[in-house]
Amino acid sequence: MDDIEPAATEEDAAPRAAAGERVVIAAFTASMAAALALAVVYWRGGQAQLEGVLLAISLGGIGVGMVVWAKRFLPSGEITEERGRMASTDDEVASFTHAFEQGEQAIQRRALLLKLLGGAVGALGVAALFPIRSLGPRPGRGLFDTGFRNGTRLMTVDGRSVRPEDLSVGGVVTVWPEGHVGEPDSPTLLVRVDRPELFRRPTRTQWTVEGIVAYSKLCTHTGCPVGLYQSRERLLLCPCHQSTFDVVEGAKPIFGPATRPLPQLPLGLNQAGELVSTGDYREPIGPGFWNRRR
Ligand code: FES
Repeated sequence: MDDIEPAATEEDAAPRAAAGERVVIAAFTASMAAALALAVVYWRGGQAQLEGVLLAISLGGIGVGMVVWAKRFLPSGEITEERGRMASTDDEVASFTHAFEQGEQAIQRRALLLKLLGGAVGALGVAALFPIRSLGPRPGRGLFDTGFRNGTRLMTVDGRSVRPEDLSVGGVVTVWPEGHVGEPDSPTLLVRVDRPELFRRPTRTQWTVEGIVAYSKLCTHTGCPVGLYQSRERLLLCPCHQSTFDVVEGAKPIFGPATRPLPQLPLGLNQAGELVSTGDYREPIGPGFWNRRR
């Protein structure tokens, strides 16, 4: 027959409650300290492994504290009582008075534990605010502006300016604004078509020079470089998901997942006969984002 564990006497219960209380206090205090240390480590530049350990201590402290609290201080099991006499004996009244006084102490203890629990959760919340800094700097106008301005010379990757005669019919070259060569937001394709009279809306013919038209090289699907040109069909192709853009029709997408034409850059010539932009793109380049109108 199994041994039956004897019920805890009042003398046993008091030291057990005190020990449990110490464990809960230690757990919540450790959690608070770890959360504050986590905030400091993050603020000072961060260290992934240390941050992980501190986060584990902070969350673990709250968990241990709540489990011990529940086991030691909350009633457990099903409690039934025989219906008895309505009137209380003197002994019962004395016993209730004693229990009530004990209860007052328990309530005071619980207030302390609740404050510590609030402190531990609050400290962890403060530490959780710091990762907001990881979102990086505000983008500002960077989503709308590139380095192209009125009169900006167009430069190849090796730093040469481009004249119309440098581009053969059916040829294509990638250029950037002068002073911004290689910048990821402004690669631009210059395409020279064989029959400029084929240009039609939405191509802005007043933005072309001697059959040369300029479009952003960043695919409007997810931003891959549109690098392939089929000169006979006058089509630009994106190698990532095969979006295809019609060069003589304002780089309108005619195949693939892209839904928006490649933005066109206004072109002109400076006095030295070099190709220049006559302004920036009139719409954001690359894939769509949240505040695009359509
Ligand atoms: S990025 Fe060009 S088709 Fe997807």
